[in-house]
Amino acid sequence: MTALKHLFSPIQIGNMTASNRLLMSAMSINFGVDEDGCVNEQLIEYFTARAKGGVGMMLVGGGAVHPTGLELPHLPTLWDDSCIPSLKKMVAAVKPYGTKFGVQLMHGGRQSYHDNKVAPSPIPAPAVVKGIPKELSIPEIKELVQAFGDSALRCRQAGFDFVEIHGAHGYLINQFLSLNSNKRTDEYGGSFENRSRFLLELFRDIREKCGADFPVGIRMNGQDYIKDGLILEDALRLAPILEKEGAAYLHVSAGVYGSTQLTIPSMYVEHGCFIHLAEAVKKAVSIPVITVGRIKDPRMAEKIIAEGKADAVALGRSVIADPEYPNKAKAGAFADIRPCMGCCLGCIHAVLALEPGSCVVNPEVGREYLLKDEKKPEKARQILVVGAGPSGMAAARILAMRGHSVTICEKQGKSGGVLRLAAKVPGRGEVGDILGFLQRELEKYKVEIRYNTEAGPEILDEIRPETVILATGSLPEMPIIKGLFQTQMELMTVTDVLAKESEPGEKVIILGGGQAGLVLADFLAEKGKEVALLNRKAHFGEEMSSNDRFYLRERLKRDRVKLYKKVSVQKFTADGADFRSDGNPVSLRGFDTVILSEKMDSVRDALQLLKDRFADVRIIGDAKSPRTLMLCMSEAEEIARSL
Ligand SMILES: Cc1cc2nc3c(=O)[nH]c(=O)nc-3n(C[C@H](O)[C@H](O)[C@H](O)COP(=O)(O)O)c2cc1C
Ligand code: SF4
Repeated sequence: MTALKHLFSPIQIGNMTASNRLLMSAMSINFGVDEDGCVNEQLIEYFTARAKGGVGMMLVGGGAVHPTGLELPHLPTLWDDSCIPSLKKMVAAVKPYGTKFGVQLMHGGRQSYHDNKVAPSPIPAPAVVKGIPKELSIPEIKELVQAFGDSALRCRQAGFDFVEIHGAHGYLINQFLSLNSNKRTDEYGGSFENRSRFLLELFRDIREKCGADFPVGIRMNGQDYIKDGLILEDALRLAPILEKEGAAYLHVSAGVYGSTQLTIPSMYVEHGCFIHLAEAVKKAVSIPVITVGRIKDPRMAEKIIAEGKADAVALGRSVIADPEYPNKAKAGAFADIRPCMGCCLGCIHAVLALEPGSCVVNPEVGREYLLKDEKKPEKARQILVVGAGPSGMAAARILAMRGHSVTICEKQGKSGGVLRLAAKVPGRGEVGDILGFLQRELEKYKVEIRYNTEAGPEILDEIRPETVILATGSLPEMPIIKGLFQTQMELMTVTDVLAKESEPGEKVIILGGGQAGLVLADFLAEKGKEVALLNRKAHFGEEMSSNDRFYLRERLKRDRVKLYKKVSVQKFTADGADFRSDGNPVSLRGFDTVILSEKMDSVRDALQLLKDRFADVRIIGDAKSPRTLMLCMSEAEEIARSL
């Protein structure tokens, strides 16, 4: 019996009954289709894994109703009957697990990634996508109305249980609704009635073609968070109209490209950030209302429903990170959920860079079809992992799951390496959540971690490993710059400061404009210190997702951190530095501390000893070469799976 009795109670949506109130929201994942946009085994297994995970309802993201509306290159296309057989195959694979399966009908409008963009008016997207869209003529609008209806019918013919119209996030329907993007003077522009016309016409076309018994939900924005965009009052006006038209549910989200509050917010944003919008819409209608947005903890989802703020809860990234989230939540095994850290790097940042979607904490995303028939090794090995940072722990977990006997030795008294330090800075505690997950998994699979233990002869003689994995991480490099070692200022590294081994003064120069330098600047500025950050590159935080960086930059502006880019340092002085930034000379004086946060150097102290004694030594993570957590985690798991 689950403790989350509201969340795991059935919900009636039109004539469809879902077994629980968790919906996997539509996500354009940019993989799993062939050159014609027909879904293939990769997408089928991705969804099958999530249906097995127990989610009550699930949506395929980015189903393109028309060639002009294909948002990203590798999304399912619905504009031709040839898509139906592969969709049928996907429905058949998911059906046995009882999840109600739907497709989101999408037209990207001006936010599409191709050169034949169309929109209500020829105004480019405010951010992310470039190019002026062509203004739609009335016959073209009528063609698109039909395209929505025809696509919905194909979904019904393929066996899907429902469809959702994507009326949110600044895509075509939202572009018609919003004055920010709709400057038309005909019957599709101007008044609220005219701006809603496109949505209502296509909704009616879908109903006519699919029948009134086929549930059609609508995703709408409760707020666009952009100048002249939709506001909550517009949503409250639209919602009862949609109910009257026969909408099966309303799914209330927010934001468009370039909005001040992003649709897919990073770890800096509070959990449940859009609940208030759904709550307001729920008061205006009696059909089910779904909420979304950083709802990570199942207990929060339960509370939302128990308190009547929404009827169901949509999860996006949480079910990318852990397909088994619903089953674990139902069983009360909350700590076993592999937590999304809200970094946005593997998922939305990747797909908007036109790469396949993935996940920093779950390298299995998109590889489910390759892993489903994975065989365990015939012979279990004795394996020593040196270093209990994220790479070492991730590798040890997979090795133990594969039946090997695994020991980790860790030089320090704690696990987590630099990631543990990275979680200490303001607003970034969630990056540490994955360490808690890995730690619990290692306990479950009986991996012993020996703390305060170096990879020396003693442990090697005792364990006698057949394979050794070196995962000793990296430390900041000391650059050679004129005056740096003669300065009167205190010299320290980012890791010294975060590990509290050094205490900076009140006026600090940080050298390095990557993620580590930026979050350190935020950490120190929040303590009231004056911070100047010198970045040799043209861009700051290049290795971060743009969503994550967006919030961090706002914080740095608020705390008046002085950012210098394209820096070439001439010399450090007794109390400052002389350099050029963007071609202009700058002299900083009166500083008391310099913190180095530029390049990282691999730590491989134990390598020679290990190589002298063992034939099979593998190097992973930052110890191999300092990189992002995502690359390190996926490589660690891949090597572990090869053993
Ligand atoms: C990779 C990715 C792709 C997305 N694509 C879509 C989409 O096609 N349609 C849509 O309505 N929302 C899309 N979203 C937004 C999610 O459905 C969801 O609203 C958002 O991620 C916030 O929920 P979360 O905090 O639970 O992730 C996408 C999100 C991600 C991470
Ligand atoms: S990449 Fe980051 S934000 Fe995206 S699902 Fe994975 S952990 Fe969450």
